[in-house]
Amino acid sequence: MNSTESKTNPDMAEMTDTERLKEIIEKLDDVPSLPTVVAEVNRAIRNPRVDANTVGQILTRDQALSAKTLKLVNSAFYGFPHRINSVTRAIIVMGFQRVRNLVLTASVLDKFKGGNVDFDFSSFWKHALGSAISAETLSQELKLQESEDAFVAGLLHDIGKLLVVLYAPEKFVRIRAIVNKKNCLIIEAEEEVLETTHSTVGAWLAKTWQFPPKLTQAIRMHHDPQSVREYYEMTYITHVADIICRALNFGDGGDKKIPKINDHVWKALKLDKNILDNVMKKTLEGFDKTKDFLQLLQ
Ligand SMILES: [Fe+2]
Ligand SMILES: [Fe+2]
Repeated sequence: MNSTESKTNPDMAEMTDTERLKEIIEKLDDVPSLPTVVAEVNRAIRNPRVDANTVGQILTRDQALSAKTLKLVNSAFYGFPHRINSVTRAIIVMGFQRVRNLVLTASVLDKFKGGNVDFDFSSFWKHALGSAISAETLSQELKLQESEDAFVAGLLHDIGKLLVVLYAPEKFVRIRAIVNKKNCLIIEAEEEVLETTHSTVGAWLAKTWQFPPKLTQAIRMHHDPQSVREYYEMTYITHVADIICRALNFGDGGDKKIPKINDHVWKALKLDKNILDNVMKKTLEGFDKTKDFLQLLQ
C-alpha cells in the first residue's frame, strides 16, 4: 500500500477509483478521450505478426495526428538525414514501439496544451520533456530494454498535475499557495488539499486511456518507488529522471525542491556519480533538439 492510499479517508475506501476521484475533481467527466486510432494502434501492435503497412493505414485514418507524429519523427531530436514522409516508413525505420510512443506523445500534447487557467503549460512540458530525455538516456546508459518506453514514461509522469490544473483549478490554486508558503514538495501540498497526489490522479488517467500497464505503474509510483511490486525498472527510471530534470532546472516540476534519489532505487539500478553525470550531460544535449516537440503546444 502506498502512502497515498494509506491516508485515504476510510469512507472512500469502498469507492472505485473513479468515484473517489470525482469527489476530488468535480469536472472529471470533462476529461477528454484520446483519438480512437491510438487505441487501435495499441491493439494492432500487440499482434506479433502485424506489419508496418497495416499500422500505417490505421494511423493515416487520422490525418492530423499522423502529421503531428511525422513532425516529431522528423525533429532534430532524432536527427534523420532525410525527411521521413509517411508513418509506414517511420515504423520501418524506428520500429512499432517508438512510433506508437510518438503517436501517444502527439495526442497527449495536443489534448493538454493549455487552457483558460493561470498556469505555465510551457514550463510544465519542459519539465516533462527533460524527464523524458533523461529517462531514455538513463535506461540506455544502464543497458535496459526499456529505453523507448522510458521516454514516454518520463514525458507523462506528472500528467495528473494537468488534470488537477484543468479540471479542479481552484484546488490547484490552493496547492500552489501551500507550496509557495511552506516551500514544500508539491505532493505534500496535494495531500493536504486533495488527500491524494498527482501520481494517483495520473495513474487513473493512464488506466482510463488504456496506457500499457508498466506506464500506468510508473506514473502511479514515481514518488514512492520502493513500494512498487511490478514493472519496477520503469518506475525506478522515471523516479530518477524526474529528480535529474529538477536538478537541471528544466521547466517547472511543481516546487523548488530537488529530492534525494531513493536509496533502494540507487542500489537496485547500481547508480554511481559517473552514470548520473553522463545522463545529465546527454539530457542537456538532447533537450536542445526538442523545439519541435514544444511547438506542438502552439
Ligand atoms: Fe511527480
Ligand atoms: Fe516531475
